[in-house]
Amino acid sequence: MYDLLLFNIGQLLLPASSSHPLKGEEMKHLHVIEKAALAVKDGRVAWIGQTVKGERLEALSYLDVQGKVISPGLVDPHTHFVFAGSREHELALKQAGVPYLDILASGGGILSTVKSTKNSSEDELLTKSSFHLERMISYGVTTVEGKSGYGLDRETELKQLRVMKKLQEKYPIQMVSTFLGPHAIPPAFKGESDQFLEEMISLLKEIKEQSLAEYVDIFCETGVFTVEQSKRFLEAGKKLGFGMKIHADEIDPLGGTELAVTLGATSADHLVAASEEGIKQLSTSNTVAVLLPGTTFYLGKEHYAKARKMIDGGAAVALATDFNPGSCVTENLQMIMSLAALKLNMSAEEIWNAVTINAAIAIGKEDVAGTLRIGAQADFVIWDIPNYQYLPYHFGVNHANSVFVAGKRFGGLNHEL
Ligand code: NIG
Ligand code: FE
Repeated sequence: MYDLLLFNIGQLLLPASSSHPLKGEEMKHLHVIEKAALAVKDGRVAWIGQTVKGERLEALSYLDVQGKVISPGLVDPHTHFVFAGSREHELALKQAGVPYLDILASGGGILSTVKSTKNSSEDELLTKSSFHLERMISYGVTTVEGKSGYGLDRETELKQLRVMKKLQEKYPIQMVSTFLGPHAIPPAFKGESDQFLEEMISLLKEIKEQSLAEYVDIFCETGVFTVEQSKRFLEAGKKLGFGMKIHADEIDPLGGTELAVTLGATSADHLVAASEEGIKQLSTSNTVAVLLPGTTFYLGKEHYAKARKMIDGGAAVALATDFNPGSCVTENLQMIMSLAALKLNMSAEEIWNAVTINAAIAIGKEDVAGTLRIGAQADFVIWDIPNYQYLPYHFGVNHANSVFVAGKRFGGLNHEL
């Protein structure tokens, strides 16, 4: 006897259950079952199949999906959703043509959010990030990665990571934490980035011992950290058993992409300015290129990451929001799917694979997220769309009709009001 049987599913999307990322041509294939049914028991996927006329599976409750589309819960593999304050005043600077890195160099940008985050209590931070997390879930995300990096000192970095741990306990969704201590150079270390990096390296052991993060990440960019410093930091993390990620070649082509491949990083993120050589190397590796077109859009840039070249050359691509208060202020992964269609020229099949199985692999969650497997936690979304191609096409709105986490409909924003 099942707990819940969803039937009359127009299309049930089943991305490949894979332990290696889908690369190149593989990204073009998306398994779809038409006229499908899905059964849930004890919060887990219990049965998947086609609805056969006249057949009636026994369940405690039934849900007629009325021909809508069901997909696995989306995976957002790159966000910075635990932060305090906001930076709407920077919009006017942007309009006046002040570049993102100049705002940072003059003490604003990331450093402005660092100030607010330092001044915020753990409880305030928990309340604010719960709100952002619930909004992400309301857009269909059931697995999410979150980074620290708005502390740049021991106390505040650990505070951010502890908040993420509390969120993991508070919500039934799957979460991954990343320590991004080297996110910017704080004013106290101006001109002394090596010393600051050593400070951040010295925190790794404590973070590991307290199981506060699974990954380490660094902002490898002009005026922030060099490729050599990034190598030093990531290797120190690797030695202690952390997975590696890198903010690479976002604005200038420093060679962070090549570094990620050389080190065997799980993912290399941004890659807007990645070199031809970096793109070539990606295709020979299992490092996932996590592309963030929302950031390119929000920073008002003309050129987007070369997703076509990456996929056609055989690389693995995932998509994420990069949600943060400065360079991409949206929790809406569906909007990113539209940008991927419009600005990265990705096909609908590639896009769905990039926000499910490849995104799960980019954060080491391929065993529990990214597709629907019998026996796995039942995280899925009922979409108000007639077919899967429709979602990227109709942009800027929320198509999620219902988001199920562990087999239960998630209440969503303000459900307690
Ligand atoms: O991924 N590029 C560096 N870090 C973030 C932005 C953080 C911020 O501006 O607050 C990013 O874009
Ligand atoms: Fe980021």
